[in-house]
Amino acid sequence: MKITVVGAGHVGATAALRASDRELANEVILVDILEGIPQGKGLDMWEAAPVQRTDSRVIGANGYDATAGSSIVVITAGLARKPGMSRADLLAKNASIIAGITEKVAEKSPNAVIIMVTNPLDVMAYVAHKKSGFPANRVIGMAGVLDSARFRSFIALELNVSVRDVSAMVLGGHGDSMVPLPRFCTVSGIPITELIEQETIDRLVERTRKGGIEIVNYLKTGSAYYAPATSAIEMAEAIIRDQKRILPCAAYLQGEYGIDGLFVGVPVKLGKDGVEEIIELKLTDEELKALHASAEIVKRNCEKCDI
Ligand code: LAC
Repeated sequence: MKITVVGAGHVGATAALRASDRELANEVILVDILEGIPQGKGLDMWEAAPVQRTDSRVIGANGYDATAGSSIVVITAGLARKPGMSRADLLAKNASIIAGITEKVAEKSPNAVIIMVTNPLDVMAYVAHKKSGFPANRVIGMAGVLDSARFRSFIALELNVSVRDVSAMVLGGHGDSMVPLPRFCTVSGIPITELIEQETIDRLVERTRKGGIEIVNYLKTGSAYYAPATSAIEMAEAIIRDQKRILPCAAYLQGEYGIDGLFVGVPVKLGKDGVEEIIELKLTDEELKALHASAEIVKRNCEKCDI
């Protein structure tokens, strides 16, 4: 059993460490174009293994030979926006990086499930789907797990309860237009609408929507990585252990929710085949309208990618 993580930056390295800690595979291959970085981080993680008591070996590489036959490939590589770059510039640059990576990944691991983390991930999942030629169930974007984890963490703080008992559902694209659904959020089965006043729920929803930028504003030089990486590995675990988890993920929709040909965050069943089922919630008109508005943004960005 082998997992590959492409990109040895903060997100990729944290994902590799989480995968190794959870012993998800005998080998975790950490790939990056920067010479020495994946090798050094991989060796450092392997040296932690005796203390952490994991036999899951992290191995760094600059190419894709070592990734051959991976069951899961988590893609985190790409650029972050720099001064003077427009979002469209980033979109085009990352689309071309992801297209190149996907071709190599698909050639070496034709049966893998791809978990896309690189932003804008709904669009990058679309690029990976087109470039890999993989069926839609084997390309998934990570966002709903992260966005709902943020929502859960805020609900737990507000109520002073264990995060374990809090579930939450966030749909849509990963950005300001995401659609947190308080109606589907519970604490041990109790709807939060019975536990928290509407005004407070609205505040938590807004904080969830802006969860990414809240971290960027603190870090100044980059964006979040612990929660994004942990979320990607939660998805990898559901697939590798065939857990049939129900998690919100960016999945390729073909008519579900009235959306066609796009990756948008919806609840799915994750098991050994990747997305084994797309669950269609009965949304109110207002919720559906918000989901469609979010999907429209994803669509416009996909159209800007020349692939
Ligand atoms: C975030 C970025 C990484 O939500 O997408 O933190």
